[in-house]
Amino acid sequence: MGNNHNHNYLLCLFMTFLVVEGLTKGVAGMACNWGLQSTHPLNPNIVVKLMKDNGFNKVKLFEADPGALKALGRSGIQVMVGIPNDLLAPIASSVSVASAWVEQNVSKYISTKGVDIRYVAVGNEPFLKTYGDKFLHTTFPALQNIQAALIKAGLGRQVKATVPLNADVYQSDSGLPSAGDFRSDIHDLMISMVKFLSDNGAPMTINIYPFLSLYADPNFPTDFAFFNGSAAPVVDGSIAYTNVFDANFDTLISALEKNGFASMNVIIGEVGWPTDGDPNANLVYARRFNQGLVDRINRGQGTPKRRSPPEVYIFSLIDEDKKSIDPGNFERHWGVFNYDGTIKYSLNLGKGKALVAAKGVKYLARRWCVMSPQASTTDPNLPGSIEYACTYADCTSFGNGSSCGKLDARSNASYAFNMYYQTMNQMKGSCTFSNLSVLTTIDPSHDTCRYEIMIDVGKHELPPSRSLAAATGKHSSVMALVLVLTLMILCVV
Ligand SMILES: *[C@@H]1O[C@H](CO)[C@@H](O)[C@H](O)[C@H]1NC(C)=O
Ligand SMILES: *[C@@H]1O[C@H](CO)[C@@H](O)[C@H](O)[C@H]1NC(C)=O
Ligand SMILES: *[C@@H]1O[C@H](CO)[C@@H](O)[C@H](O)[C@H]1NC(C)=O
Ligand SMILES: *[C@@H]1O[C@H](CO)[C@@H](O)[C@H](O)[C@H]1NC(C)=O
Ligand SMILES: *[C@@H]1O[C@H](CO)[C@@H](O)[C@H](O)[C@H]1NC(C)=O
Repeated sequence: MGNNHNHNYLLCLFMTFLVVEGLTKGVAGMACNWGLQSTHPLNPNIVVKLMKDNGFNKVKLFEADPGALKALGRSGIQVMVGIPNDLLAPIASSVSVASAWVEQNVSKYISTKGVDIRYVAVGNEPFLKTYGDKFLHTTFPALQNIQAALIKAGLGRQVKATVPLNADVYQSDSGLPSAGDFRSDIHDLMISMVKFLSDNGAPMTINIYPFLSLYADPNFPTDFAFFNGSAAPVVDGSIAYTNVFDANFDTLISALEKNGFASMNVIIGEVGWPTDGDPNANLVYARRFNQGLVDRINRGQGTPKRRSPPEVYIFSLIDEDKKSIDPGNFERHWGVFNYDGTIKYSLNLGKGKALVAAKGVKYLARRWCVMSPQASTTDPNLPGSIEYACTYADCTSFGNGSSCGKLDARSNASYAFNMYYQTMNQMKGSCTFSNLSVLTTIDPSHDTCRYEIMIDVGKHELPPSRSLAAATGKHSSVMALVLVLTLMILCVV
């Protein structure tokens, strides 16, 4: 009897779980990557609000950033927290290093901040061919140690350890998805790792980039990169593939089937399209790709070989102007939103719901640093000045096919000077450039080329004439503190 009662209770719990799970699925939550390599990062609380306003209920972080994790506490957003590659070796070396990482960067945030951490991403694309064997010997041991540390911390069920891998860990000799298998140089390593993930109920995580297929191969059929293209399909037995995403994903599914892991859970850790820095990186293509992606997510669509949809983390939420441009200038422009949370292009998030921009963003003063009308484009100091500006500021919108690729020499210099001036938070002395530059309050932006004003991250010097405003500012923050303290006392009472 008691047993029966217990069963009913469990059944009821299970049903409630199903209903809640179903409801959250029904609102088609989306997942995104949140990278922090910016000279002017948005306030984390603004970013969390931005995610919630746009229906993102899962986020992937590349490291355990305290500001981001605190802001995610009790937000209702599920978190995958990453371990950067440079920590793989120390974590692989001992379980106690792994335990310290889990204690400080997972357990603490779950118990004291209410962060809903679901995954730990061990490394980031560690088997990328361009890394050679740099992380080949440390990734799997690091994964094992993190898994052991999670179990030791009592989080074995709640938090799963996975490794985000680049799609180049698998390949197909015939070019057809059905011939997919793991790359021969890491075949055994991949099998051991997949088995370990599977034994621990953890997913495999893979990053797929149709943009890079197009970027890498000038003969790649453009339409095949998109979900609604009209490229000639790739016929593989009874399946006709109409886009590279499906073909790529199913190459992995074939590799998994071939090696005895037909039901392995797979997550897409990154997928997206950049908007600048390359002729194929533009607003029209990015919108087309991401709209197709969002539509699939909302339809719950899988691929020909795997009908159930994978969890998909869009890359990325916002632009990052400090990312390495080794892969290309486009690397700093993957955001669905600009670095400041403004909208780049329209997207239908489902049922006609449009993107919502970030709220409460504070900007520096509306002034730009441009080339002085008195200065000459033949001034011998000009090339050096532009080069200097672009060494410290982001000039990746220059170049053929980019948003500022068609500027004349004068606008060109202005763009570089302004980027430097804004990146330096409009600091005094950051618009001098051998007397070639001057400040203006007229926005020099034209056509597709935006002359930015950076957001206020509290690092600029206030010019002397604004000292009164500064004093008022101080006064109001004292008032705010008094108000907060009063409220806290009232709450405690
Ligand atoms: C926690 O993560 C941060 C960010 O990656 C790292 O700097 C720190 O060393 C980690 N803590 C431990 C104890 O490993
Ligand atoms: C610039 O890019 C376009 C494609 O957008 C290409 O047709 C043209 O050849 C490129 N020009 C140069 C100089 O690279
Ligand atoms: C594909 O979808 C995009 C975005 O919805 C749309 O703008 C474009 O016209 C479509 N292209 C084709 C070939 O259907
Ligand atoms: C503009 O600046 C870029 C970067 O320094 C340079 O490659 C390009 O040739 C310049 N264009 C003109 C018209 O001066
Ligand atoms: C800038 O102009 C000032 C005043 O005209 C002059 O004294 C100074 O030498 C100039 N600086 C440079 C780097 O040309």
